[in-house]
Amino acid sequence: MGTQQLINRVALVTGGASGIGLAIAQKLYQAGSHIAIADLDLGKAEEALTAIPQLDGQQKLALCVDMADYQSVYAMAERCEEKLGRIDILVNNAGFQHVAPIENFPKEVFQKLIDVMLVGPFVATQAVFAGMKQRGWGRIINISSINGKIGAPFKAGYCSAKHGIIGLTRVTAVEAGDSGVTCNAICPGFVDTPLVRKQLTDLSMGYNVSPDSVIEEVILPHVPQNRLIGADEIGDTAVFLSSDEAAAITGQAINVSGGYVMH
Ligand SMILES: NC(=O)c1ccc[n+]([C@@H]2O[C@H](COP(=O)([O-])OP(=O)(O)OC[C@H]3O[C@@H](n4cnc5c(N)ncnc54)[C@H](O)[C@@H]3O)[C@@H](O)[C@H]2O)c1
Repeated sequence: MGTQQLINRVALVTGGASGIGLAIAQKLYQAGSHIAIADLDLGKAEEALTAIPQLDGQQKLALCVDMADYQSVYAMAERCEEKLGRIDILVNNAGFQHVAPIENFPKEVFQKLIDVMLVGPFVATQAVFAGMKQRGWGRIINISSINGKIGAPFKAGYCSAKHGIIGLTRVTAVEAGDSGVTCNAICPGFVDTPLVRKQLTDLSMGYNVSPDSVIEEVILPHVPQNRLIGADEIGDTAVFLSSDEAAAITGQAINVSGGYVMH
């Protein structure tokens, strides 16, 4: 696989201002694609783009989107197409976490998790699918989680959304048929990002350990490689799935978890 294998592709990454989305955007850009970062926080998206060194002939675009608002999602796709010509690679990455036992889980937060991490990606897929199929090439990459494959205590909303998006991934792959469009999910294990750091205090209460020892005592015992995953490792997987070499891989939910989950 060459280093510039994505030359002239246009990639749109939601939630690309931070963590995994930012690493994916950086890696796709380094691999040759034009890149749009869409985030709830436009200022953070613009800052993130500034931190990615400009390469000759490759465009960068910051967009504002609320993935929980379907009109905002359509507007994001339209603006990206207007500015960069089309969308070849869609990465549905935006997300957040809420940790609480089912008895105390607020219904509106459960709904929001589903809206941002399942309905939003569905709407974004609707917005790009016809164009990709017409052009005979496209990549849709949904960021699920190992929590899309296994239940985790206190994560009812998150696990439901992440299981759901694997279903959406499979339907998209089947409907893409022989069009040249593939759709896959990446299922990261624990990646060291703000999303993970923010949940340590809540998890420590659930598991009755100190916040400082959640990683060592609660998370790592499940990980054969005994480490957190790097955001750039998820970026590398996204670049591979976006390449022509990955053309036969579709409808898959690929764990990048240091062995935490093996199915
Ligand atoms: N960090 C992990 O260990 C881990 C593991 C598995 C899956 N994931 C998934 O990876 C994705 C990225 O997570 P991260 O760890 O990089 O988190 P992060 O908090 O670092 O970044 C998430 C980004 O999404 C944006 N965002 C949140 N709500 C949004 C909305 N409604 N509309 C648009 N943007 C919104 C935030 O502003 C932020 O920039 C999420 O879908 C998450 O569930 C993370």
